[in-house]
Amino acid sequence: MSQESTVPGEVVETAEIPEPGAVTIVVPTFNESANVRQLLRQITEAVPARLPCEVVFVDDSTDDTPDVIEKAAQDCPFPVTVLHREEPVGGLGGAVVEGLKAATSDWIVVMDGDCQHPPSLVPDLVATGERANAGLVVASRYIKGGSRAGLAGSYRVAVSRGATWLTKALFPRRLHGISDPMSGFFAIRRSAVTAEVLQPLGYKILLELAVRSRPGRVTEVPFVFQDRFAGESKSTAQEGFRFLRHLAGLRAASPVARMIGFGLIGLTGFVPNLLGLWALTATGMHYVPAEILANQLGVAWNFVLIEHLLFRERRRHRRWWDRAGRFALLANADLVLRIPLIALFVHQFHLGVLSATALALVTTFVLRFVATEALVYLPRRAGEEPACDGRTARRAV
Ligand code: GDD
Ligand code: MN
Repeated sequence: MSQESTVPGEVVETAEIPEPGAVTIVVPTFNESANVRQLLRQITEAVPARLPCEVVFVDDSTDDTPDVIEKAAQDCPFPVTVLHREEPVGGLGGAVVEGLKAATSDWIVVMDGDCQHPPSLVPDLVATGERANAGLVVASRYIKGGSRAGLAGSYRVAVSRGATWLTKALFPRRLHGISDPMSGFFAIRRSAVTAEVLQPLGYKILLELAVRSRPGRVTEVPFVFQDRFAGESKSTAQEGFRFLRHLAGLRAASPVARMIGFGLIGLTGFVPNLLGLWALTATGMHYVPAEILANQLGVAWNFVLIEHLLFRERRRHRRWWDRAGRFALLANADLVLRIPLIALFVHQFHLGVLSATALALVTTFVLRFVATEALVYLPRRAGEEPACDGRTARRAV
């Protein structure tokens, strides 16, 4: 895209900032040049007469979307801003968080740039929130009057169903009863957004906000998910994996869930460990060095999974080889500690060998978990920037 007219740091004229009680519409865009003009037209028809508004596009496009927005905005009776991110972090969710930070109105509505979310609903979302004194109003496809008509193909319907089911199962309480946690269309009160606690990762920004932001009272409005105006969904199989990592990261916010995750990942480590043992002894190696080497394979496997699923947001304090070294040291210390601990339980506390072994396993597991948290992955410090701050250029158009 052309950068000539980009003025980093420039802000919308003060006179154009909407009155309190108005709405900032945040639209993430990735190569939507064929849709944004139509979207602005629909917003113009549906919103300003009922509610003063401004529109903030947060754009990660590699095409001319920002230029098309700039031209189309000339016909709009409300302020339009484009935040173009040079270094997109966090994908769609990261873009939305940038928009939440830039918003100036009491209410913020987040919607897609491809016209699948009807702008005619924007005033109703805000009015419902005001009436119900809610912090978050979700446009839901899964309550009476809503439908997922625009979800093209039985494959996508099945994936969406599975994802919704899994999410509800993993967060029975933290979703505040939201029927459609996968929705990308919602209104949130600016005072309910705590941007500093958010760690967006990919598409499911509503889920992120519902779980981490504690938005207060939540209510829903039905909506019909429309067909895309032009082009195709930007979602990929890779986005599916990102979603699973996002779910794991959200669950890992609770220490008990983190310990369970740590244990489950540890159990999966038996597979590479045993395979390694089998392969090494098959080459004729003595079983003792083979055990030691195969154990390192299990440790490496656990390290990779724990890094990506459990402590994704807590890796920045040390370099990866430092973390790997400390992790391996703790994992091997666990093995070395276990034998004397079993001996201690048997001789000093007169436990049977089996119960002593079980107790030693549990003790070393808990010790290893606590030590890994304290010595390898430090928590994010308060006030530290979340992982969603790429370089951003602002255009008021
Ligand atoms: N800035 C930015 N960066 N925008 C992005 C990115 C990105 O990396 N990826 C996608 N977008 C924008 C698209 O340009 C579009 O405006 C909006 O986000 C939604 O992307 P789509 O690719 O059209 O998503 P979808 O239709 O498959 O999924 C939508 O519906 C799902 C419900 O079935 C989204 O709203 C999902 O969040 C929702 O779960
Ligand atoms: Mn879409």
